[in-house]
Amino acid sequence: MGQEQTAKVILDGNTFELPIIIGSEGERGIDISKLRSLTNYVTLDHGFGNTSNCESAITFLDGEAGILRYRGYPIEQLAEYSSFVETAYLLIYGKLPTSEELREFSGLFNEHSMIHEDMKRLFNGFPVAAHPMAVLASMICSLSAYYPDIDMTNPSKKDFDRIAVQLMSKVRTMVAFAYKKSIGEPFVYPREDLEYVPNLLNMLFSSPTKPYKIYDEVVQAMKVLFILHADHEQNCSTSTVRLVGSSRVNLFASISSGICALWGPLHGGANEAVIDMLEAIQKDGGDVDKYINMAKDKSTSYRLMGVGHRVYKSYDPRAKIIKQCAHELLNKLGVDDPLLEIAIRLEEKVLKDPYFVERNLYPNVDFYSGLIYKAIGIPKDMFTVMFAIGRMPGWIAHWKEMIEVPGGAKIGRPRQIYVGENKRDYVTINKR
Ligand code: CMC
Repeated sequence: MGQEQTAKVILDGNTFELPIIIGSEGERGIDISKLRSLTNYVTLDHGFGNTSNCESAITFLDGEAGILRYRGYPIEQLAEYSSFVETAYLLIYGKLPTSEELREFSGLFNEHSMIHEDMKRLFNGFPVAAHPMAVLASMICSLSAYYPDIDMTNPSKKDFDRIAVQLMSKVRTMVAFAYKKSIGEPFVYPREDLEYVPNLLNMLFSSPTKPYKIYDEVVQAMKVLFILHADHEQNCSTSTVRLVGSSRVNLFASISSGICALWGPLHGGANEAVIDMLEAIQKDGGDVDKYINMAKDKSTSYRLMGVGHRVYKSYDPRAKIIKQCAHELLNKLGVDDPLLEIAIRLEEKVLKDPYFVERNLYPNVDFYSGLIYKAIGIPKDMFTVMFAIGRMPGWIAHWKEMIEVPGGAKIGRPRQIYVGENKRDYVTINKR
């Protein structure tokens, strides 16, 4: 990052110079942090499409070129060669671990995989039909009640390492327990002999009467999904984690707020919404054109789910990997899902349709991920929860980066342009 040039802003006949910041990949930004104190003006940027909230060294993405890298490593290489736990280490600590570091880090996952026995009672407090994202957000926030002893504004390295691993390991157990509760089966505890993904699959799908056979293909597909979901720089949920965390609330509460942000159908909830959409098309006789036309019709707010992205203006590199992964997994498992055929037809048409072409709308990461989860046997309302498991290292890495800013990150507090009523005097109700 460098500061070489300045931008000139002319306001009310006066010229002001603002520093230009250049990122390590040549990205340019105008540093407006002194704008208001110099000029008394603020900026207006709906949806923050042009506003950087921080300098970050975690993830680089170039939406025009379809590039995504964690700590400099291309996503394609990590998805193929790395493990989820190793990628988590990379995101959080900024470098690939040595084999000794990885062994130690993985060991901590086993040490912290159980949840406090008292927390099991919390699951019973939820209605059976509760959405798993509601349960997960509440349970993650509750961790701050069970582990309140740590100075979260400035945790020691040992404390931070422990909290980070606690979150990533316990989230898996919580998700599995929430699922078991929803289907009325007994909880299955984590096993020390299983790695991250098989352990989760075993807790989800085995029962005292029915052991679950863990297929390598399923483990591989889920690992790839988790790695692809692990970080995506300043998206809605990660920005939420940073914003909430900037008040110096604890990491558990910050991440719980990120889970709530992820839940929405325009963000991580899209994976569930895609399957809803494909099922609706199927029920409607497979008429994809009808749904494409609905999405193009500006008199409705209907959108094709799993299509479009704020940053990617070419094919989402994660969608490319996931599409391939969905084909391979369904083939290997011998699953013949008619929704895959509908998804392929829909994609083909979207890629040729001028409405989507002109607006650079391509399938995103969520377009095919639901089909993979469905083939594995994960119910639809659990898809976004799986996304949350994958995103955990990214959220933790961003929280860590934020609190490590020298002098502490500034509390997030945007400005606004007030457009409401001017001053008027209160009139008592009997005179109105
Ligand atoms: N279907 C139809 N039209 C669309 C779609 C869509 N899925 N997405 C964008 N558009 C149109 C939109 O109507 C607008 O048209 P116009 O220029 O005529 O007004 C134009 O494309 C630009 O859209 P925008 O809403 O300004 O774009 P945005 O950057 O604010 O929104 C988005 C990005 C992802 C919220 C949006 O594309 C969308 O709603 N997609 C469907 C939901 C989805 O798949 N979300 C998952 C995103 S990837 C997972 C993750 O969150 O990380």
